Amino acid sequence: MTSLPPPGSISIDDTIALEQRAGALRDQVFGRQVFVRGVIEVSNFCRQNCNYCGMRRDNRDLRRFRLELDQLRDLIRHGLPEVITDLNLQTGEDTVGIREIVLPLVEMLREETKLGISVCLGTLDPKLYDDLRRAGASYYIIKLETGNREHYRDIHAPGTYEKRLEAIRYLASTGWSVSSGFIVGLPGQTRAHIEETLDLLSELPLAGASVSPFISGEQTPFAGQASADFATTISSIARLRLRNPGYVIPAISALNLLAEDGYVRAINAGANLATINLTPPANREDYLLYKRSRHIMHEKRVRSAIEQAGCTISTVSLAETMRQRRVAAATAS
Ligand code: 5AD
Repeated sequence: MTSLPPPGSISIDDTIALEQRAGALRDQVFGRQVFVRGVIEVSNFCRQNCNYCGMRRDNRDLRRFRLELDQLRDLIRHGLPEVITDLNLQTGEDTVGIREIVLPLVEMLREETKLGISVCLGTLDPKLYDDLRRAGASYYIIKLETGNREHYRDIHAPGTYEKRLEAIRYLASTGWSVSSGFIVGLPGQTRAHIEETLDLLSELPLAGASVSPFISGEQTPFAGQASADFATTISSIARLRLRNPGYVIPAISALNLLAEDGYVRAINAGANLATINLTPPANREDYLLYKRSRHIMHEKRVRSAIEQAGCTISTVSLAETMRQRRVAAATAS
């Protein structure tokens, strides 16, 4: 199923050597350990209108949902797998849902659990970032999608390129660990854009970054466009690791839509974070990034992928690892 690299890209042998070097570097810095985080997709309301994303506000055919606080409290108290050390709360850009659901949930998680708390909620008013940080979240995921200013504008990525960079810098300067990332294979993307994006992801004050393969969304202006090339995606993951030894790099479930062993290959190429989807099954299909037939990573699949990659599950949380790093950096300076 793996597609051949396009003309002008590196050979398969070179790609495999790159992946091996990247995996070895991950081992040196983190050991053969993979963080396991749960994700709950809390709301699919979104005020943005990204050309690549099925949750864009112009998609009138999508059933919008905001999970109930009671249901979520119940899920957190009784429905979390034991392996997860961190939990990520994710939404479209939905300030109402963030204030009314995410914020109280972060407070509850902080009071009742030891879980590290990540959030992926979009570009917000700085006061809302501050409130979330104060409530106990410490890891903010905010993707760049593309590191080229014109391309960013052309694909209607959130707000403006400048504002997105400003948000990343603000978050990093106010005590958040920030993770960003980009999408390989977006319509209009050139090889030079990928280089520019990798440069930018190395320069920004980040704790981590991701490489996601573009999968065309059914209900978007990009419907019907070709999906990302697998070899380009996996070699981008490896290069991201080689250039940023200390980054936390997630394996992305959509990789399994491009190659049967895509997720395992990502871990072998230096990824060190796996995600278990904990969104209630009734709502999963409506958290529409691209297709309704998502590749859902449940606990068994995550355990099996980590095992197949010859790795073990980290017992220390992402949040605690980052806290220790901050303390070490402060003591050193
Ligand atoms: N293909 C791949 N990734 C996508 N995302 C949204 N739409 C797509 C798509 N068509 C990713 C973006 C976004 C994250 C929540 O999902 O990176 O930030």
